[in-house]
Amino acid sequence: MVKNNLIAGVMGNPISHSKSPLLFRYWLDKLSIEGQYVPLSVVKQDVEQVLKTLPKIGFSGLNVTIPHKELVLKFAEIVTPRAKTIGAANTLTFLPSGGFKADNTDGFGFLANLKEHQQNWSSKKCTPLVLGAGGASRSVISSLLEEGVTLIYVTNRTFERAQELRNFFGPKIVVIEWNYKKEILSDIDLLINTTSLGMVGQKLLDLSLENIDQNTIVVDLVYNPIKTQLLKEAEKRGCKCVDGLGMLLHQAIPGFEGWFGKKPSVDTATRKMFLTK
Ligand code: ATR
Repeated sequence: MVKNNLIAGVMGNPISHSKSPLLFRYWLDKLSIEGQYVPLSVVKQDVEQVLKTLPKIGFSGLNVTIPHKELVLKFAEIVTPRAKTIGAANTLTFLPSGGFKADNTDGFGFLANLKEHQQNWSSKKCTPLVLGAGGASRSVISSLLEEGVTLIYVTNRTFERAQELRNFFGPKIVVIEWNYKKEILSDIDLLINTTSLGMVGQKLLDLSLENIDQNTIVVDLVYNPIKTQLLKEAEKRGCKCVDGLGMLLHQAIPGFEGWFGKKPSVDTATRKMFLTK
Protein backbone atom coordinates (compact mmCIF):
# COMPACT_ATOMS: atom_id res chain seq x y z
CA MET A 1 0.00 0.00 0.00
CA VAL A 2 1.15 3.53 -0.72
CA LYS A 3 1.92 5.40 2.46
CA ASN A 4 0.30 8.77 2.91
CA ASN A 5 2.34 11.58 1.36
CA LEU A 6 4.20 9.33 -1.02
CA ILE A 7 2.09 10.50 -3.92
CA ALA A 8 3.04 13.15 -6.42
CA GLY A 9 2.25 13.88 -10.04
CA VAL A 10 2.50 16.14 -13.04
CA MET A 11 -0.27 18.54 -14.03
CA GLY A 12 -0.72 19.96 -17.53
CA ASN A 13 -3.05 19.98 -20.50
CA PRO A 14 -2.52 17.89 -22.54
CA ILE A 15 -0.48 15.57 -20.34
CA SER A 16 -0.33 12.24 -22.16
CA HIS A 17 2.93 13.22 -23.92
CA SER A 18 4.73 13.87 -20.61
CA LYS A 19 7.62 11.55 -19.90
CA SER A 20 7.83 12.58 -16.26
CA PRO A 21 5.71 9.59 -15.06
CA LEU A 22 8.17 7.27 -16.79
CA LEU A 23 11.15 8.94 -15.15
CA PHE A 24 9.61 9.02 -11.67
CA ARG A 25 8.48 5.38 -11.92
CA TYR A 26 12.03 4.42 -12.88
CA TRP A 27 13.55 6.30 -9.93
CA LEU A 28 10.91 5.03 -7.46
CA ASP A 29 11.63 1.42 -8.47
CA LYS A 30 15.37 1.95 -8.48
CA LEU A 31 15.33 3.40 -4.97
CA SER A 32 12.73 0.85 -3.74
CA ILE A 33 10.26 3.54 -2.74
CA GLU A 34 6.61 2.55 -2.50
CA GLY A 35 5.39 5.77 -4.01
CA GLN A 36 3.17 6.82 -6.87
CA TYR A 37 3.52 9.52 -9.50
CA VAL A 38 0.53 10.23 -11.71
CA PRO A 39 -0.24 12.34 -14.78
CA LEU A 40 -3.08 14.81 -14.21
CA SER A 41 -4.87 16.42 -17.12
CA VAL A 42 -6.35 19.64 -15.74
CA VAL A 43 -8.06 22.51 -17.57
CA LYS A 44 -7.27 26.09 -16.60
CA GLN A 45 -10.50 26.78 -14.73
CA ASP A 46 -9.94 23.75 -12.45
CA VAL A 47 -6.32 24.46 -11.51
CA GLU A 48 -7.07 26.35 -8.28
CA GLN A 49 -9.52 23.73 -7.02
CA VAL A 50 -7.18 20.85 -7.88
CA LEU A 51 -4.34 22.55 -5.99
CA LYS A 52 -6.57 22.86 -2.93
CA THR A 53 -7.75 19.25 -3.12
CA LEU A 54 -4.54 17.32 -3.80
CA PRO A 55 -2.87 17.89 -0.40
CA LYS A 56 -6.12 16.76 1.29
CA ILE A 57 -5.92 13.41 -0.47
CA GLY A 58 -2.28 12.76 0.36
CA PHE A 59 -0.25 14.40 -2.39
CA SER A 60 3.09 15.78 -1.25
CA GLY A 61 3.89 17.69 -4.42
CA LEU A 62 3.34 18.29 -8.06
CA ASN A 63 5.25 19.08 -11.22
CA VAL A 64 3.58 21.60 -13.48
CA THR A 65 3.91 21.80 -17.22
CA ILE A 66 2.41 23.70 -20.16
CA PRO A 67 0.10 25.67 -19.99
CA HIS A 68 -0.11 26.16 -16.20
CA LYS A 69 3.46 27.09 -15.22
CA GLU A 70 2.67 30.80 -14.89
CA LEU A 71 -0.87 30.49 -13.56
CA VAL A 72 0.07 28.42 -10.48
CA LEU A 73 2.12 31.32 -9.07
CA LYS A 74 -1.15 33.16 -8.44
CA PHE A 75 -2.29 30.54 -5.93
CA ALA A 76 1.03 29.85 -4.15
CA GLU A 77 1.58 30.56 -0.45
CA ILE A 78 5.33 30.86 -1.06
CA VAL A 79 7.07 31.63 -4.35
CA THR A 80 10.83 31.00 -4.32
CA PRO A 81 13.02 33.87 -5.59
CA ARG A 82 14.04 31.90 -8.68
CA ALA A 83 10.42 31.13 -9.59
CA LYS A 84 9.64 34.81 -9.14
CA THR A 85 12.54 35.79 -11.40
CA ILE A 86 11.51 33.35 -14.11
CA GLY A 87 7.80 34.13 -13.71
CA ALA A 88 6.85 30.46 -13.80
CA ALA A 89 6.96 27.35 -11.57
CA ASN A 90 7.49 23.70 -12.41
CA THR A 91 7.78 22.18 -8.93
CA LEU A 92 5.14 22.63 -6.21
CA THR A 93 5.45 21.31 -2.67
CA PHE A 94 2.37 21.16 -0.45
CA LEU A 95 2.74 22.74 2.99
CA PRO A 96 1.18 21.70 6.33
CA SER A 97 -1.13 24.73 5.99
CA GLY A 98 -2.74 23.19 2.89
CA GLY A 99 -1.09 25.78 0.65
CA PHE A 100 1.99 25.19 -1.48
CA LYS A 101 5.46 26.48 -2.26
CA ALA A 102 6.13 27.16 -5.94
CA ASP A 103 9.66 26.67 -7.21
CA ASN A 104 11.36 26.63 -10.59
CA THR A 105 14.15 24.06 -11.00
CA ASP A 106 14.97 24.65 -14.69
CA GLY A 107 18.03 26.79 -13.95
CA PHE A 108 19.21 24.24 -11.39
CA GLY A 109 18.80 21.51 -14.03
CA PHE A 110 20.73 23.53 -16.58
CA LEU A 111 23.70 24.11 -14.26
CA ALA A 112 23.74 20.58 -12.87
CA ASN A 113 23.81 19.19 -16.40
CA LEU A 114 26.52 21.59 -17.52
CA LYS A 115 28.69 20.78 -14.51
CA GLU A 116 28.16 17.06 -14.92
CA HIS A 117 29.32 17.11 -18.52
CA GLN A 118 32.01 19.79 -18.21
CA GLN A 119 33.65 19.31 -14.87
CA ASN A 120 36.26 22.00 -15.56
CA TRP A 121 33.62 24.62 -16.25
CA SER A 122 34.10 27.72 -14.17
CA SER A 123 31.72 30.64 -13.94
CA LYS A 124 34.64 32.94 -13.13
CA LYS A 125 36.10 32.88 -16.61
CA CYS A 126 33.00 32.29 -18.65
CA THR A 127 31.53 34.48 -21.38
CA PRO A 128 28.26 32.98 -22.60
CA LEU A 129 26.02 33.79 -25.55
CA VAL A 130 22.39 32.86 -24.94
CA LEU A 131 20.19 32.38 -28.01
CA GLY A 132 16.55 33.15 -27.21
CA ALA A 133 14.67 35.30 -24.72
CA GLY A 134 11.74 33.17 -23.56
CA GLY A 135 11.16 31.35 -20.27
CA ALA A 136 14.01 28.89 -20.83
CA SER A 137 16.40 31.77 -21.51
CA ARG A 138 15.36 33.46 -18.24
CA SER A 139 16.09 30.27 -16.29
CA VAL A 140 19.53 29.90 -17.88
CA ILE A 141 20.45 33.57 -17.42
CA SER A 142 19.36 33.72 -13.78
CA SER A 143 21.27 30.55 -12.92
CA LEU A 144 24.44 31.81 -14.65
CA LEU A 145 24.22 35.16 -12.84
CA GLU A 146 23.66 33.42 -9.52
CA GLU A 147 26.73 31.32 -10.21
CA GLY A 148 28.82 34.49 -10.59
CA VAL A 149 29.02 35.02 -14.37
CA THR A 150 29.67 38.73 -14.91
CA LEU A 151 28.79 39.24 -18.60
CA ILE A 152 26.18 37.45 -20.70
CA TYR A 153 25.51 38.14 -24.37
CA VAL A 154 21.87 37.59 -25.30
CA THR A 155 20.37 37.55 -28.77
CA ASN A 156 16.82 36.94 -29.92
CA ARG A 157 14.84 37.10 -33.14
CA THR A 158 12.55 39.67 -31.48
CA PHE A 159 15.04 42.25 -30.25
CA GLU A 160 12.63 43.84 -27.76
CA ARG A 161 12.31 40.60 -25.80
CA ALA A 162 16.09 40.44 -25.34
CA GLN A 163 16.02 44.09 -24.33
CA GLU A 164 13.41 43.23 -21.68
CA LEU A 165 15.87 40.74 -20.19
CA ARG A 166 18.52 43.49 -20.10
CA ASN A 167 16.06 45.74 -18.29
CA PHE A 168 15.18 42.96 -15.85
CA PHE A 169 18.62 41.50 -15.09
CA GLY A 170 20.68 44.69 -15.49
CA PRO A 171 23.95 45.72 -17.14
CA LYS A 172 25.59 42.28 -17.00
CA ILE A 173 23.33 41.48 -19.96
CA VAL A 174 24.57 42.73 -23.32
CA VAL A 175 22.03 42.45 -26.13
CA ILE A 176 23.27 41.52 -29.60
CA GLU A 177 21.15 41.82 -32.73
CA TRP A 178 19.98 38.46 -34.07
CA ASN A 179 21.75 39.13 -37.39
CA TYR A 180 25.10 39.69 -35.63
CA LYS A 181 25.19 36.55 -33.52
CA LYS A 182 27.75 34.90 -35.80
CA GLU A 183 30.22 37.74 -35.31
CA ILE A 184 30.24 37.42 -31.51
CA LEU A 185 31.09 33.69 -31.54
CA SER A 186 34.85 34.38 -31.43
CA ASP A 187 34.41 36.26 -28.12
CA ILE A 188 32.55 33.58 -26.17
CA ASP A 189 33.33 30.24 -24.56
CA LEU A 190 29.79 29.03 -23.82
CA LEU A 191 26.96 28.96 -26.39
CA ILE A 192 23.46 28.03 -25.26
CA ASN A 193 20.48 27.53 -27.54
CA THR A 194 17.27 28.14 -25.57
CA THR A 195 15.10 28.66 -28.67
CA SER A 196 12.93 25.95 -30.14
CA LEU A 197 14.95 26.04 -33.38
CA GLY A 198 16.33 22.61 -34.26
CA MET A 199 13.51 20.77 -32.49
CA VAL A 200 11.60 18.14 -34.46
CA GLY A 201 8.99 19.92 -36.56
CA GLN A 202 10.70 23.33 -36.21
CA LYS A 203 13.11 25.18 -38.48
CA LEU A 204 16.83 24.60 -38.07
CA LEU A 205 18.98 27.15 -36.29
CA ASP A 206 20.72 28.97 -39.10
CA LEU A 207 24.08 29.72 -37.49
CA SER A 208 27.48 29.08 -39.00
CA LEU A 209 30.06 28.22 -36.34
CA GLU A 210 33.07 29.19 -38.43
CA ASN A 211 34.11 31.87 -35.90
CA ILE A 212 33.80 29.64 -32.85
CA ASP A 213 36.82 28.69 -30.74
CA GLN A 214 37.12 24.95 -30.34
CA ASN A 215 37.29 25.26 -26.55
CA THR A 216 33.76 26.65 -26.52
CA ILE A 217 31.12 24.59 -24.75
CA VAL A 218 27.95 24.32 -26.83
CA VAL A 219 24.71 23.49 -25.02
CA ASP A 220 21.42 22.85 -26.79
CA LEU A 221 18.31 22.76 -24.60
CA VAL A 222 16.48 20.98 -27.42
CA TYR A 223 16.40 17.23 -26.65
CA ASN A 224 14.32 15.97 -29.54
CA PRO A 225 16.42 15.12 -31.48
CA ILE A 226 19.15 14.46 -28.93
CA LYS A 227 21.88 15.45 -31.35
CA THR A 228 20.67 18.62 -33.03
CA GLN A 229 22.21 20.15 -36.14
CA LEU A 230 23.87 22.73 -33.87
CA LEU A 231 25.54 20.02 -31.76
CA LYS A 232 26.59 18.09 -34.88
CA GLU A 233 28.31 21.14 -36.30
CA ALA A 234 29.87 22.04 -32.94
CA GLU A 235 31.19 18.50 -32.61
CA LYS A 236 32.71 18.71 -36.09
CA ARG A 237 34.58 21.81 -35.02
CA GLY A 238 35.93 20.09 -31.94
CA CYS A 239 33.76 21.95 -29.41
CA LYS A 240 32.55 20.35 -26.20
CA CYS A 241 28.87 19.50 -26.56
CA VAL A 242 26.07 19.15 -23.99
CA ASP A 243 22.62 17.97 -25.06
CA GLY A 244 19.26 18.97 -23.57
CA LEU A 245 18.21 15.64 -22.08
CA GLY A 246 20.42 16.01 -19.02
CA MET A 247 18.77 19.31 -18.06
CA LEU A 248 15.36 17.72 -18.37
CA LEU A 249 16.41 14.88 -16.07
CA HIS A 250 18.29 17.04 -13.55
CA GLN A 251 15.44 19.54 -13.15
CA ALA A 252 13.29 16.71 -11.77
CA ILE A 253 15.69 15.86 -8.93
CA PRO A 254 14.73 18.55 -6.36
CA GLY A 255 11.04 17.63 -6.61
CA PHE A 256 11.67 13.91 -6.31
CA GLU A 257 14.00 14.32 -3.35
CA GLY A 258 11.64 16.71 -1.54
CA TRP A 259 8.54 14.54 -2.00
CA PHE A 260 9.97 11.04 -1.69
CA GLY A 261 12.93 11.66 0.64
CA LYS A 262 15.74 10.18 -1.44
CA LYS A 263 17.96 11.79 -4.06
CA PRO A 264 17.90 10.02 -7.43
CA SER A 265 20.84 10.16 -9.80
CA VAL A 266 21.06 10.96 -13.46
CA ASP A 267 23.31 8.25 -14.80
CA THR A 268 23.82 6.54 -18.15
CA ALA A 269 21.11 4.00 -17.30
CA THR A 270 18.58 6.79 -16.64
CA ARG A 271 19.39 8.42 -19.96
CA LYS A 272 19.17 5.10 -21.76
CA MET A 273 15.81 4.25 -20.19
CA PHE A 274 14.48 7.64 -21.20
CA LEU A 275 15.71 7.34 -24.78
CA THR A 276 14.46 3.82 -25.40
CA LYS A 277 10.91 4.18 -23.98
P1 ATR B 1 10.32 28.86 -23.71
O1 ATR B 1 9.52 29.18 -22.49
O2 ATR B 1 10.50 27.39 -23.98
O3 ATR B 1 11.63 29.59 -23.74
P2 ATR B 1 9.08 30.78 -25.47
O4 ATR B 1 8.90 31.75 -24.36
O5 ATR B 1 7.95 30.58 -26.43
O6 ATR B 1 9.42 29.33 -24.94
O7 ATR B 1 10.40 31.20 -26.29
C1 ATR B 1 10.77 30.58 -27.48
C2 ATR B 1 12.08 31.18 -27.98
O8 ATR B 1 12.38 30.59 -29.26
C3 ATR B 1 12.02 32.68 -28.19
O9 ATR B 1 13.30 33.24 -27.95
C4 ATR B 1 11.66 32.77 -29.68
O10 ATR B 1 12.02 33.98 -30.29
P3 ATR B 1 10.96 35.22 -30.34
O11 ATR B 1 11.00 35.84 -28.98
O12 ATR B 1 11.45 36.08 -31.40
O13 ATR B 1 9.61 34.59 -30.64
C5 ATR B 1 12.51 31.65 -30.23
N1 ATR B 1 12.02 31.19 -31.54
C6 ATR B 1 10.96 30.41 -31.80
N2 ATR B 1 10.82 30.22 -33.15
C7 ATR B 1 11.84 30.91 -33.72
C8 ATR B 1 12.26 31.13 -35.09
N3 ATR B 1 11.60 30.58 -36.12
N4 ATR B 1 13.36 31.89 -35.30
C9 ATR B 1 14.04 32.44 -34.27
N5 ATR B 1 13.70 32.28 -32.97
C10 ATR B 1 12.61 31.53 -32.70
